[in-house]
Amino acid sequence: MTTIRRLEESSADAKNDGSTDSSIIILENTYEFCGYNLRISRFINANLGYSAYVWEAGIFLCRYFEKESINFIGKKVIELGSGTGIVGILTTLLGGDVTLTDKPNILKQIENNVSINVPPPCRHRVKTRPLIWGEEQTNFPTGYDFILGSDIVYSSAAYPALIETLRYLGRQGATIYLSSEIRNKSRSPSFHDDFLPQYFNCQIVDREDDKDIILYKMTKIDKSPRDRLLTENN
Ligand SMILES: C[S@@+](CC[C@H](N)C(=O)[O-])C[C@H]1O[C@@H](n2cnc3c(N)ncnc32)[C@H](O)[C@@H]1O
Repeated sequence: MTTIRRLEESSADAKNDGSTDSSIIILENTYEFCGYNLRISRFINANLGYSAYVWEAGIFLCRYFEKESINFIGKKVIELGSGTGIVGILTTLLGGDVTLTDKPNILKQIENNVSINVPPPCRHRVKTRPLIWGEEQTNFPTGYDFILGSDIVYSSAAYPALIETLRYLGRQGATIYLSSEIRNKSRSPSFHDDFLPQYFNCQIVDREDDKDIILYKMTKIDKSPRDRLLTENN
C-alpha cells in the first residue's frame, strides 16, 4: 500500500528561492524483511532523481540478507549510494554498525527513513554521511567489514570514481556486496566483467534472471609485494 504525506519544513532553508512553501511530498511504502516492517519514504518533489525510488536491486539485496541470514551483529558496514536507505536501515536492524552514504542532497530523505525505522536504542549504530565517489572516500576509515551497494552501477561516466572508492574502502578482508541490474545501455556488463576482476575476487552469489539482477560478493585481490610493484610500474 502506498501512503501520501507532506513533510512540513520548519524553515525556508529547503527552498533555494527563500519562499516558505517548502513542504515535501512523501510517498511511503512498506517492505517486510527478516520480520521487520520497513516504512520507506520517497521525497517525490525534491529533485532527487534516481534516489527517490526503491530499486529492485536494493530489494533483492535485502531478500538475500534474509535468505542467507547474514550476520551483521557487531560488524562495521558502509553503504554507497543509499538512496532511500532501505538496505542500510535493514543492516542496522540486523545488528550492524552502519554508515549510510550518498550525495549531500539525498541525506535528508535517508535521515527521515532512519528516524522512522531505527528505534532510539539502536540509533547510536547508524550514521548518515555525504560521500561523492572518487572525491570524498578518504574522509572515511578503511576498516569496514562490509561494503554494500545496490543499483549503483548505471552511469559509465561514474565507473572510474566508483572503482576508486571501492578500492579505497575495500581493505583486505572486507566483503563487498554489490547488487546490480545489468543494463547494456550503460555498459554495466563491462564494469562487472572487465573493471571489477582487475581489483577484486568476484563471485556471483545470487541472480534474478527475469529482472537481469546479479548479486556479486567480492573481496580485494591479495597482491604480493612483487605483483604490487609490477602493477605500479606499468
Ligand atoms: C539507482 S539509485 C539506487 C538507490 C538505492 N541504493 C536502491 O537500491 O534503491 C543510485 C544511487 O547512487 C547515488 N549516486 C550516484 N552517483 C553517485 C556519486 N558519484 N557519488 C555518490 N553517490 C552517487 C545516487 O544519488 C543514488 O542515490
